[in-house]
Amino acid sequence: MKCKVPTLMITVSLIIILLNVLPVCLIASENDIDKQIDELLSRMTLEEKVGQMTQISLEFISQGYPQTEDPLTLDPEKLRTVIVEYHVGSILNVGTYAHTAQRWQEIITSIQNMAVEQTRLGIPVIYGIDAVHGANYTKGATLFPQSIAMAATWNKDLSRQEGKITAYEVRASGIPWNFNPVMGMGRQPLWPRLWETYGEDTYLASVMGYEYIKGLEGEHNTISKKDKVAACMKHYLGYSFPLSGHDRTPAWIPERMLREYFVPPFQAAVDAGVSTVMVNSSEINGIPVHASPFYLKQLLFDEMGFEGFVVSDWLDIHNLYQREKIAVDYRDAIRQAVMAGIDMSMVPLDLDFYTILIDLVKKEEVPMSCIDEAVSRILKVKFRLGLFDNPYPDPSLLSKVGCEKFRQVNRQTAREAITLLENRDSFLPLNKNARILVTGPTADKLSVLNGGWTITWQGDQEKLYPQGENTISEALMQKFGKQNVKHIEYSIDNTTQIINEAKGRDAVILCLGEQPYCETPGNISDLTLDQDQLQLADALYKTNIPVILVLIEGRPRIIREIEPSAQAILMAYLPGIQGGNAIADVLSGDFNPCGRLPITYPRFPNDLTLYDHKVSENINEFCSYNPQWPFGYGLSYTTFEFSNLRLDKNVMQKGEELDISVTVRNTGKRNGMQVIQLYIGDAVASVTPSCKRLKGFSKIELKAGESKQVTFTIKEKDLSFIGRNNKQIIETGDFSVFIGDLQASFTYK
Ligand code: BGC
Repeated sequence: MKCKVPTLMITVSLIIILLNVLPVCLIASENDIDKQIDELLSRMTLEEKVGQMTQISLEFISQGYPQTEDPLTLDPEKLRTVIVEYHVGSILNVGTYAHTAQRWQEIITSIQNMAVEQTRLGIPVIYGIDAVHGANYTKGATLFPQSIAMAATWNKDLSRQEGKITAYEVRASGIPWNFNPVMGMGRQPLWPRLWETYGEDTYLASVMGYEYIKGLEGEHNTISKKDKVAACMKHYLGYSFPLSGHDRTPAWIPERMLREYFVPPFQAAVDAGVSTVMVNSSEINGIPVHASPFYLKQLLFDEMGFEGFVVSDWLDIHNLYQREKIAVDYRDAIRQAVMAGIDMSMVPLDLDFYTILIDLVKKEEVPMSCIDEAVSRILKVKFRLGLFDNPYPDPSLLSKVGCEKFRQVNRQTAREAITLLENRDSFLPLNKNARILVTGPTADKLSVLNGGWTITWQGDQEKLYPQGENTISEALMQKFGKQNVKHIEYSIDNTTQIINEAKGRDAVILCLGEQPYCETPGNISDLTLDQDQLQLADALYKTNIPVILVLIEGRPRIIREIEPSAQAILMAYLPGIQGGNAIADVLSGDFNPCGRLPITYPRFPNDLTLYDHKVSENINEFCSYNPQWPFGYGLSYTTFEFSNLRLDKNVMQKGEELDISVTVRNTGKRNGMQVIQLYIGDAVASVTPSCKRLKGFSKIELKAGESKQVTFTIKEKDLSFIGRNNKQIIETGDFSVFIGDLQASFTYK
């Protein structure tokens, strides 16, 4: 008989060896990389170095630029000029439409052939792409919910899986670099890129982004693996908070606020080992971030400890003089940006950056040391990606792109995102024999489920979406039977027909929301949902048939006027290609909804108070936090009860941790998932405290009647805030703990 103790000892020793050896290996290879970089750099000419700092868009090296043809064809002469004569080290973008993974591999192979075989030093190109909800520029790839919906799952495992699957499919397309995640805080609901964020809370965004990066890069950031890619946190810093709500307009963020709310998610990304960063296209307090050594050097490298390279956003060095007006000409703009800390310029459609920067160095207006630092950082990521060993796509990855396993993860993700906001008289779920009318501007399109960055930049080319995937109405027909579901196409003019068809039905599923948009074209000046849609809802209410609103939207469009008469309301955000199926799963009760709002859903367009407001913002009936639905809100088809909120001590001494536990019981008749949200409020502080801040969450599954105890551990840093001197501090005093409807308190001494 084998003795258990030695076996256990051997296993433990092996684990210890592995844990110790792994970082040593990584350190060893990092040292090798540094030597290789020094050696390579010593052989590079100024021109070759500046080429590495230049990033050009795919359209620029394609036939028929600006591109009109599909499929895209590279122009060998332009490719040669860019790579061989101008030594360009990076290419980005898709052209106009998504390509198959196979076609991507051909494109990348041609580019790498030119770089590796036709240039003196054979430095491979680093290709970058916006794969922001799965590999959205690869035909047939898995199209996940957009980040705002990912955050609504409150499920960090799903965020990591999204990262893993995205990395696989992007790398299968031959591309090693993904311009995601957006770590900017979604605290300005008008902003057309809100859906690219993980919502309004710093803690939730930090956790989801951290996991996603680990999914893309691997637990130990082993990005040379054939199914991993380099991540790019963006848009550093403050881009997501334009005062006007319009894209690429100024943010005014005092330093304390910046460090309290906006820096932490980027810090989490740095802690995750993120390889690259993209810069805020606009400005903070009048200073364009592309020209700020404070943001790009001091804060990012010296304080936050970032170790990757910095890429500009699209055209944004140009913009320093063309739009921001802080430079007299392009030359001045390039000098300011490179000196401030931009390592690579996303130029993207000419070669002037290259020519001018070389001249600036020759005339000693930009020192060579600055160029060397930038190029070293870029080369380091290229080495770490393994591009010097093998820059070519791996055909063996192709077969799993869009595979059934990935689809299943995606469908589960979309289901877990959907947030039930209203369910009067427990009307939902619907009986499978229910006779349903489905209509509305988002009822029968795949594009609306996916939004921007899908197949095309704006994501609005419905005819290019994959055949055979279900829109909401198609999914409902599949679920409830064609004989039970009638879809009437929505237009302003056919309200009468819609009303007539509603009569005699058990329910109307009215799909409202937004048509696809991306970036600046998505600017709006009123958060209220379009009048036509509100009027359609009102007209349908008059039939007295129960109306279920399904909201497909990237930001919380105000629906105050139509909310009271809705029988039920589902918020589906931009749920991705499985969104239709997931909505049908929820409406039919095949899946019990468990999404929770990652944003405050405002009731009025001019009342955009967020959940972590100050006490003075919620003081009486004249001044209150009065949203349509608060942050963290969401219903289920079952009910949960919280009890036994216990702290392991009433006094937490300096240096100690605090354990907080709570019992959660499923008191209804269905199995379901609940998100346990832990909030902490500081009673008194030298900087006015928020009423409460999220400090932990846990998503658990409970069978009908089942109870579970959930425990959180609070550390001192969870009680900290940015003090009057703009540094992180912790003050002694009383704190409140909130979980569900329970509250407790403790003292920190
Ligand atoms: C966007 C970035 C994106 C870049 C490259 C810019 O317009 O702001 O988020 O990564 O384009 O496509």
